[in-house]
Amino acid sequence: MTDERIIKPRSADGFKHIPGSPGLPLFGQTFQFISDPIKTTLDCYAKYGPVFRSNVFFLDMVNVVGPDAVQAVLADRDKLFSSKLAVDAFAKDFIGRAIIARDFSDHRFHRRIMQSAFKSEPMKTYLIRMTPHIAMGLNRCEKDNYFLFYPFIKKLSLRLASGIFLGLEEGDDLDAINGALVTMMNGVMAPIRLRIPGLAFHEGLVKRKFIADYISELIVDRRQNPSMDMLSEFCKAKSEDNEQFSDEDIVDHMLLMWLAAHETTTSLLCHVMYRICQFPEWQVRLREECYGIGKPAIDYEDVTKLEQMDWVIKETLRLHPPAPILMRTALRECEFYGFHIPANTMLSVGPGVSHFLEEFWAEPKKYDPLRFSPERAEDKSHPYAFAPFGGGAHTCIGMHFAAIEAKAILYQMLLNHSWQTPEGYDPKFKMTPIPKPKDDLPIKMTNLPRRSQFH
Ligand code: HEM
Repeated sequence: MTDERIIKPRSADGFKHIPGSPGLPLFGQTFQFISDPIKTTLDCYAKYGPVFRSNVFFLDMVNVVGPDAVQAVLADRDKLFSSKLAVDAFAKDFIGRAIIARDFSDHRFHRRIMQSAFKSEPMKTYLIRMTPHIAMGLNRCEKDNYFLFYPFIKKLSLRLASGIFLGLEEGDDLDAINGALVTMMNGVMAPIRLRIPGLAFHEGLVKRKFIADYISELIVDRRQNPSMDMLSEFCKAKSEDNEQFSDEDIVDHMLLMWLAAHETTTSLLCHVMYRICQFPEWQVRLREECYGIGKPAIDYEDVTKLEQMDWVIKETLRLHPPAPILMRTALRECEFYGFHIPANTMLSVGPGVSHFLEEFWAEPKKYDPLRFSPERAEDKSHPYAFAPFGGGAHTCIGMHFAAIEAKAILYQMLLNHSWQTPEGYDPKFKMTPIPKPKDDLPIKMTNLPRRSQFH
């Protein structure tokens, strides 16, 4: 039953009654969508309203846009929409039975156990682990000369993930694991999904097995000797009924953590740096806020004190959401916003598209972190007006982790250094699969005179 759903996505004939355009013969709206999914979706929303059909990547789908409609799908009060079937259709070989590929009570059971790895005590230890890696990464940065920020921050966040998720240090199998992860991630994103040696998809699967075997061996050790890493937390974690994850569960959950955490955080930090170089007044404000903390690196208690940094991060996530569009599959036929949706319909749900709607945001295209200040609180105009981490049962479990990591990195970057993009810098963005500046963001770091208390 499940496989049949995956192999035969719903044909558009089943929802011709839904407004929308079929786009180009065969390719539908694929090219527009790849070049700018948010703009493509916004244009259709303006034309057709919150529910419309499209064809992308050879799949006929129904799009859901606008905070009310997005909330109806993601909150899913009637248990109509499956994350599992949607994920299986795109990335089953890589994701396996990870948490995002589970629905309803099965999902809730795994999420409850997993949640203990994201409580404040483990978070504190993750932050302690991050701090020296960030300092080391910054020390290796070229000074007073332009370098490419995207590969730098990608490498740093990969290093942080290997340290925090698996407890790997320099000299362990760090380079082999990080290299394998990059190949695996390229496989997940590969457009041609054939198991032919040499193709990114096949090579990604080979490396997935390599990493899965590696994690399986580590699990044996961590079950005996827990350490300060997320893998140990997953090994220890228990539900209220004292149930634990199996080894296979842990491998799948761990691999998803990487996929979910790495490119998203890299994208966020890249766009924050671009924006605070574009608006140097914000760079100055954030640095002043860091001076107010008065330490070389932040502790867990300092995270909430960085209020303006919070606004900058949120405003960046609003304008450059790393995952603006999510996928679900209708489990049963249903009525949705007055339209009949057949069973097995693939839904493209756009929480990040709401970030650009004038009904909810003043001058939505403008970069304006103050809109998140308590005085303006534009994000509170609707529970789903600002939803970079999704919503409902599958809301990002790592959203606080992401904020801590982003703040820990930005703090150390801003405290003793100023950052600059080239004069008149006006980047083009690659919008899919995860947004990034096309030219990898050339940037110059200049050391500032150190304040004595921050040595
Ligand atoms: C800026 C950074 C991040 C963004 C924008 C982001 C965004 C999202 C979104 C939109 C979802 C919902 C997916 C859906 O409903 O289909 C999600 C789920 C998830 N994210 Fe994140 N994420 C980020 C960072 C992280 C980090 C750092 C971790 C782990 C440490 C993480 C782990 C996960 C997991 C495990 C899920 C699936 C949760 C579930 O199915 O219950 N994410 N993320």
